[in-house]
Amino acid sequence: MQIKEILGLTPTQQSIVVKGWVRTKRVSSSVAFIAINDGSTIHNIQAVVSEGTVSEETLKLVTTGSCIAVTGKLIASQGQGQNVEVEVVSIEVYGTADPEKYPLQPKKHSLEFLREIAHLRPRTNTFSAILRVRHALAYAIHTYFNNNGFFYLHTPIITGSDAEGAGEMFRVTTLDPINPPLTEEGKVDYKEDFFGKETNLTVSGQLEGELGAMALSKVYTFGPTFRAENSNTTRHLAEFWMIEPEVAFNELVDNMDLAEDFTKFCIKYALDHCADDIAFLEKRLIEEEKNKKKEEQSELSLSEKLRFVTENEFERLTYTEAIDILLNSKAHKNGKFVYPVEWGIDLQSEHERYLVEKHFKKPVILTNYPKDIKAFYMKLDEDGKTVRAMDVLFPGIGEIIGGSQREDDYAKLLQRTKEVGIEEESIWWYLETRQFGSAPHAGFGLGFERLVLFVTGMSNIRDVIPFPRTPKTAEF
Ligand code: 4AD
Ligand code: MG
Repeated sequence: MQIKEILGLTPTQQSIVVKGWVRTKRVSSSVAFIAINDGSTIHNIQAVVSEGTVSEETLKLVTTGSCIAVTGKLIASQGQGQNVEVEVVSIEVYGTADPEKYPLQPKKHSLEFLREIAHLRPRTNTFSAILRVRHALAYAIHTYFNNNGFFYLHTPIITGSDAEGAGEMFRVTTLDPINPPLTEEGKVDYKEDFFGKETNLTVSGQLEGELGAMALSKVYTFGPTFRAENSNTTRHLAEFWMIEPEVAFNELVDNMDLAEDFTKFCIKYALDHCADDIAFLEKRLIEEEKNKKKEEQSELSLSEKLRFVTENEFERLTYTEAIDILLNSKAHKNGKFVYPVEWGIDLQSEHERYLVEKHFKKPVILTNYPKDIKAFYMKLDEDGKTVRAMDVLFPGIGEIIGGSQREDDYAKLLQRTKEVGIEEESIWWYLETRQFGSAPHAGFGLGFERLVLFVTGMSNIRDVIPFPRTPKTAEF
């Protein structure tokens, strides 16, 4: 039985076995108190060892980090904050943890230090709470789509296309990197490669998702995506998980409605199902914020912030309207933006955060971006200058979702692929969907870790994925 379940039982002195890792051991004159955790809950269970029940030798092996099985009686606890505890009859030590060497001592460790021991950090309260919230959010995502008639489509990890056209791909090859076979012109001969062509890890499942939507109407992907962008920020990973719904017959406004309803559902699900973990993370955040300047401290607690998002409508406006707001802002007039504002720029995170955190103080959906700063597949607006793009911006995060209505007109799409230099032969299959039964459709991508970041109140994306991959780090 897991500790979470045991903690909810009525204590009737029934015999019980508890298995888990020792968090702390406290010894007083005639009793020892052992706090045990098995990761099923943020709460530990206390095992009380009376003098003489367990040999001195065994008790000595019970140290922070060791793994044990305790057999005993479940009794009402005298202590505060717990209803039950275990009166120990015997202890079996599965694995010891030398206190001289075990890195996780019962004290506060810095997040930077914990990143260096990613193999052990799930045993801390903070990381186990994050991993449980991460799990709940993944479950919420599948639940939402299943409840709303979507089908889970598995798109390939290895592909020959660059969905975003940004050239940020990790190559996949079996060729000898030092002496690759060469063509007569002296170029690498990819015909000799495993797939007979150049391939890479996917940057997005969208293009294949669109093929699915043109058959099943409502599909979503949820898989790992890879970007070789050299962004060493608190918001970027080289390997992250993305959720990409794609819906036939949806236009931009339906896409916005879906994005808003979906994110609200997921956040509400976490609030309803991870109350203890979110309460723990909220306390952690309050402690962390004490070290910040007053003006940088958040006015709302973590759960208030989450409820604020689930209970308020997102602000919707066009890119052009957003640029006007930025141009009229004090920050712009006082030269406070590092990147200057003018129509046509790719908004930087300082601009996005100004709009969300200072101006609207709530999530914002920006639409109709200039076509030149967006991907080739977005539907051109009537003005010929903007496309039906949408980005959802969240407080403290910036862009959490990027999406669009897709270009469904064959001639216009072909024209765009030519303009951005995509070879027709490389995505003939994508273009064909616009020749055979094309339909209006729209979709978006939600960065899973950015959602987990928001819900857990953590500030670095490396702390919300079990094994982060960032430039120069892939130790675990
Ligand atoms: O805006 P992006 O690049 O959009 C796409 O990939 C589209 N194909 C999505 C679609 O329309 N189906 O990425 C979508 C989201 C971003 O809003 C962000 O949340 C996340 O993916 N993201 C990253 N998360 C972590 N690390 C990175 N390097 C990320 N790049 C994008
Ligand atoms: Mg984007």
